[in-house]
Amino acid sequence: MRISIIGCGYLGAVYAASMASIGHDVLGLDVDQDKIDGLNQGRAPFHEPGFDKVLAQSLESGRLRFSTEYADAADYEAHVICVGTPQQVDAAGADLTYVHAAVDSLIPHLSDSDVVLGRSTVPVGTASSLVERLRAAGSQAVLAWNPEFLREGFAVKDTLHPDRLVYGLPEDPAEAARAREVLDAMYAPMLEAETPLVVGNYATAELVKGAANSFLATKISFINAVAEVCEATGADVSVIAEAIGLDDRIGPKFLRAGIGFGGGCLPKDIRAFMARAGELGVTEALGFLREVDHVNNRRRDHVVNMARKALDGSFTGKRIAVLGAAFKPDSDDTRQSPALYIASKLSGRGADVVVTDPAANQRVHAERPNLAIAEDAYAAATGADIVLLLTEWQQFKDLDPVKLREVVTTPHMIDGRNVLDPAQWREAGWTYQSMGRP
Ligand code: UGA
Repeated sequence: MRISIIGCGYLGAVYAASMASIGHDVLGLDVDQDKIDGLNQGRAPFHEPGFDKVLAQSLESGRLRFSTEYADAADYEAHVICVGTPQQVDAAGADLTYVHAAVDSLIPHLSDSDVVLGRSTVPVGTASSLVERLRAAGSQAVLAWNPEFLREGFAVKDTLHPDRLVYGLPEDPAEAARAREVLDAMYAPMLEAETPLVVGNYATAELVKGAANSFLATKISFINAVAEVCEATGADVSVIAEAIGLDDRIGPKFLRAGIGFGGGCLPKDIRAFMARAGELGVTEALGFLREVDHVNNRRRDHVVNMARKALDGSFTGKRIAVLGAAFKPDSDDTRQSPALYIASKLSGRGADVVVTDPAANQRVHAERPNLAIAEDAYAAATGADIVLLLTEWQQFKDLDPVKLREVVTTPHMIDGRNVLDPAQWREAGWTYQSMGRP
């Protein structure tokens, strides 16, 4: 298939390189010239394990190229919208500016046999409105919705070996058949590998994505709410998670209590889902997601309070080492990162904060110039009055408590991700605190 991909951010760049790697002829489009130049030279604009390799191989094969010229899309038959849908600046809903701009820029270059596919996460009703936009501009191109479910850190794997494929097809049978033909050809290797395929209408496909991310967020906030109860009782949330996770109706995944979820997806997606429910007159249906959001935000503030108590009530003149800034390990993404929120809060309250992250240091330096950055955990912890582990990178999990103790002023560790062994750290002389564990 000849596929153009509009938007070369996290989703689009990985998707473009991955689709070329399975034999398609792919054009990646983006308005950011620097990003496009870098991608054409095989430079990944973000940290993602395995992406550099698939990008290099796909460029080498001659089946992948990147451009800023929408006119180049005229040679392609499928066009995939992969642009971002961030939260609006002053409201909870999703900002569709980039989606609309992508479609408007594409329209002059579409032929009527082309298929436009949406992969961005959008509020329900967007696909229908985009069909109206196409028709109003005189295009008869077919539109289908095909949400993605990739996780940062596993983006290539999730793209090439997805848990499921979801097609949201048009009502008209001939249009649906054309969309299906294109989608089946694009995903032929995945379908041959018997990846489950779920087919519905536009609204269903759009809602699958909102529902999936909301469920994941709810699972995390559920276990974090249980952690709050554990903290009031002396129970251990990780043992509870293990015990309930053994019930296969519940399952063990996404039950890691800690400082909550962040990133460019879950926080904004639950808010956009709630906002859309409000517009549709079913506010109460998703009212519980407000609580999911509240629980999530409380965990971050809880860590700030724990640190304040540990430092005898005042941050002034105290040195705090923060291990981790990305919203999760194996990523340099700091959007809505709980770690960065906590670091900034502590710094705002007068602490001398030193942050270190294996991949996000440069980003932190650019975005939060007031935070000091250290090369590694030992440099960050040197002279620290307290150490906070906030992103569970493997190198932090592997830290030697005896060696780290030698560089700190006070051996006090707050493990915001419950990944260290309490017995080992206490034996090495540390005061060790974690989330929802005695
Ligand atoms: C999430 C979804 O997991 C993907 O399926 C989805 O495709 C993607 O959003 C998207 O909408 O594009 P991602 O944002 O990469 O993927 O991150 P997750 O792995 O879901 O982690 C989100 C946050 O939850 C992280 O901050 C992580 O530390 C936290 N988390 C995760 C927990 O606090 N506890 C857990 O048990 C699991």
